[in-house]
Amino acid sequence: MTFSVSVQNSAIRFPCQPNESVLDAVQRAGYEVPFSCRKGVCGTCKGCVVSGEVRAYGGDALSAADRAAGQVLYCNARPRSDLVIAPRSIGKTDPFARKTLTARVFRITQRAEDVVHLHLRFPAGVRVKFKAGQHLNVMLKNGERRDFSMANPPAESDGVQLHIRHVPGGAFTSYVFTELKRGDNLQVEIPFGDFILRDSDKPILFVAGSTGFAPIASIIEDALRKGIRRDMWLYWGARRKSGLYSELPRKWQAQHPRFRYIPVLSDEDEPGIRHGLVHQVVLADHPSLAGFQAYVCGVPVMTQAAQRDFVAAGLPSGEFFADAFVTRADLAAAGP
Ligand SMILES: Cc1cc2nc3c(=O)[nH]c(=O)nc-3n(C[C@H](O)[C@H](O)[C@H](O)COP(=O)(O)OP(=O)(O)OC[C@H]3O[C@@H](n4cnc5c(N)ncnc54)[C@H](O)[C@@H]3O)c2cc1C
Ligand code: FES
Repeated sequence: MTFSVSVQNSAIRFPCQPNESVLDAVQRAGYEVPFSCRKGVCGTCKGCVVSGEVRAYGGDALSAADRAAGQVLYCNARPRSDLVIAPRSIGKTDPFARKTLTARVFRITQRAEDVVHLHLRFPAGVRVKFKAGQHLNVMLKNGERRDFSMANPPAESDGVQLHIRHVPGGAFTSYVFTELKRGDNLQVEIPFGDFILRDSDKPILFVAGSTGFAPIASIIEDALRKGIRRDMWLYWGARRKSGLYSELPRKWQAQHPRFRYIPVLSDEDEPGIRHGLVHQVVLADHPSLAGFQAYVCGVPVMTQAAQRDFVAAGLPSGEFFADAFVTRADLAAAGP
């Protein structure tokens, strides 16, 4: 039996098999909704089922409030009846929006003991459109892919700058740290993701853990260049001081009175730097988040804790946006 899936307030309708995820059916029908890990870990594909019934498998990325609001993860929800869904966004897949190309390593700079700044250049004359906050796929020789966020603003479109944290035992990041050099080529597909700034007048909380700073740097740089006049706070957390590897936040703070930077360390005490878990320091400063919009990026355990605690502190769940830096260890833990 095939079920029918309709998108609320639109003419979009497509079939979905009982053993097919809603995400797979959306894509087979030629549409795109936000997604990343496809395994119930990152929460990017979260959306509502307005009517109908689904079987949903696991998925730590849903909070109790999400479930109560009828939200599911489309990547692991399968229909048990006809459905009406309300994704956060949906559009026709544009086959020309994404490019696969060979990028050349222009510069690799060590920024901390476990972070390098990788500057890739596209072939001469090639420019790539992406939105601040999006990411690319590095295509490995064995067919696997790895996600990395652009740290540069889209106006710099002749290449990308990536902040890469070494994951011990990680195939690609170990290669970057030991073998990759200036002049080498990497195959990339770009762009992906919807971790992008939403139109609003609300003040913004940016919360980054380690290299979760990369997409947030792109968003902030882009917003400041465009003259967006919103109050912004950046809370950037790392274990040790060396993990706060960029001077850009201090520069933004010196130049823009509405931008405030609060560095946070979890494992070291340093004069002038807050101590603790980064999302808890946000809550110590802002016990009520009712009037804010929040953009959070880092490892899944951090983005999930931030979502849970920020919503409990009054942040409307629709004003929470996150990019979870999922690794293959997280995917393996999520099961087959
Ligand atoms: C949207 C997005 C954007 C991202 N952006 C960035 C960024 O800008 N900067 C950044 O530093 N990171 C980013 N990440 C995270 C980055 O993609 C991962 O750290 C990446 O997977 C590391 O690749 P790797 O090949 O080095 O490690 P992997 O090979 O993926 O391994 C990671 C860890 O998992 C273990 N592992 C591998 N396979 C298995 C298995 N089958 N079972 C159990 N454990 C296993 C490895 O031993 C290792 O410890 C992003 C992730 C996402 C989803
Ligand atoms: S794409 Fe569904 S949770 Fe990551």
